[in-house]
Amino acid sequence: MQEIKKYVEENKQRFLDELFELLRFPSVSADPKYKGDVLKTADFVAEKLAAAGADKVEVCQTAGYPIIYGEKIIDAALPTVLVYGHYDVQPADPLELWHTPPFEPTVRDGKIYARGSADDKGQFYMHVKAFELMMKTNTVACNVKFMIEGEEEVGSANLGIFVNANAERLKADVVLISDTSMISMENPSIETGLRGLAYMEVEVTGPNRDLHSGVYGGAVANPITILCKMIASLHDENNHITIPAFYDNVTELPTAEKLALNTAPFDLDDYKKDLGIQSEWGEKGYSTLERTGTRPTLEVNGIWGGYIGEGAKTVLPSKAHAKISMRLVPHQTSAEIAELFQQHFEKIAPEFVTVKVTNHHGGEPVVTPTDSIAYRAAEKAIEESFGKKPIPTRGGGSIPIVALFEDVLGIKSVLMGFGLDSDALHSPNEKYDIYNYYKGIETLPLFHKYFAELSK
Ligand code: BES
Ligand code: MN
Ligand code: MN
Repeated sequence: MQEIKKYVEENKQRFLDELFELLRFPSVSADPKYKGDVLKTADFVAEKLAAAGADKVEVCQTAGYPIIYGEKIIDAALPTVLVYGHYDVQPADPLELWHTPPFEPTVRDGKIYARGSADDKGQFYMHVKAFELMMKTNTVACNVKFMIEGEEEVGSANLGIFVNANAERLKADVVLISDTSMISMENPSIETGLRGLAYMEVEVTGPNRDLHSGVYGGAVANPITILCKMIASLHDENNHITIPAFYDNVTELPTAEKLALNTAPFDLDDYKKDLGIQSEWGEKGYSTLERTGTRPTLEVNGIWGGYIGEGAKTVLPSKAHAKISMRLVPHQTSAEIAELFQQHFEKIAPEFVTVKVTNHHGGEPVVTPTDSIAYRAAEKAIEESFGKKPIPTRGGGSIPIVALFEDVLGIKSVLMGFGLDSDALHSPNEKYDIYNYYKGIETLPLFHKYFAELSK
C-alpha cells in the first residue's frame, strides 16, 4: 500500500493532466456531429493504454464506434481480469445550465466539472493508471485485458457483436467495471445489481394536418391531450404500473435481503433537500432504496408536439410524441416488456387517434454475486484503502453489456464504482471528485493483488 501511495503521489499532476486531456474530447456517441471527436478519443485511449504497458493494443473497428482492446498476459496460470469501460459520453445539453463549459474540465472545490468526468472517463481511466502503476512498480498480480467501448450511452449494440465474435480473446475470470456509484466516501459500497431497460418512442396522430384551434378546436381530438391522458393512465393511484402482465415475472426480494438493503446509510431528508422536493414519490409499499434498486419503473423522458416557439400560436396539432423508458428487474426481459408496452399502448388509444410505437435500445437486468472470490477481493481492497468494509447495494442504473458478459462469456462482473449519485451523471455540471479519482487508482491494484491471492 505504501508503494502504491508513493507512486500516485509522485505522478499526481500527470494523472490529472491526462484525464483532463481525455475530458476535452467531446465524445458524444448519440450525436453524429461529434463523429470525428469520438474517433479521436478512441485513438487517444489506445495510445495511453499502450503507453501504460499493454500489449496487442488495437482499435477494433465495428459498424459503429471502435472498441479499444489491450492486454498484459504475464502467466497463464494466473487469473485474468477483464476491465470494461466506455469512452463515450452523453450529450451535454442543456448547455446554458453549465457553470463552466462541459468539455473544458474545471476544478472547483476539489471536484472536476466536465461531461464524462464520472461517467465514465474519470472512472475507466483510473484502471489505465492503476495498470501503469502495477507495471512500473513490478506488481502486476493477474493477467489483465482491457475492453473500452464507445457506444455504451447508445445501447452497446456493436459491442454485443464484438463480444460474440471475440469470446476466445476475451476469456477471463472476472469482468471489473468502474461505472457505478458508492453511497459516500465515508460509507464505501459495491453495487451488486443493475436494472435492465426497455426504451420506447410513441407517436400519436390526430387530424392529418395542423389545424386552426378556433375553427376546429372542440370538435377534433387534440393528440397532445390524448397522449397526456394515455401516459397518465400508465400508473395507478398506488404508482403501480398498469400495463397488464408487467409484473408477472417480478419476484419479491427475500426478507433478509430487503432488511439488509434498508440498513444501508440513507437519509431521506437529505435526499429531498438535495433534489429540492417536498416529498418523495413512488410505488406504494416500498422504500426509496427498494424503489430504485429492486423495482421496475416507467418514466417519460421527453414529450413534445405542437407549437413551442416564441410567443403564442393557436394551433391544434396533428401529432404528439413521447420517449418512454422502463427500468427492469431480474426475470423481466427487455423484449417481453417492450412487446407488452406496445400492445397495451395500442390498446388504450381511443378511436380519435392512431398511435405508432417504436422500440429503441434495451438491456437486461443483472444481479452480481457477493459470495465470489472476485467480490471478496473487491471487498478486501476497499476495506484496506477506505478503512471500512463496503456495503453491498443495488444500483438503479443500467449497463446493458453486463448481462451479455454472463450469457456469452459466462463471466460475472464486479461493479467497483467510485462515483457518487450526486455526481450529476447525464446532467449539467457533471463532476468527479479528484479525491475519488486518486482513491480509485490506489484501490484497484489491491483488487488485482487480492484476486490473485484468493484465487490460489
Ligand atoms: N454508468 C451508467 C449506469 C449507472 C450509473 C449505473 C450509475 C449505476 C449507477 C451508464 O453509463 C448509463 O448511463 N447507462 C444508461 C443505459 C444506456 C443503455 C443508455 C442508463 O442507465 O440510463
Ligand atoms: Mn457509464
Ligand atoms: Mn451514462
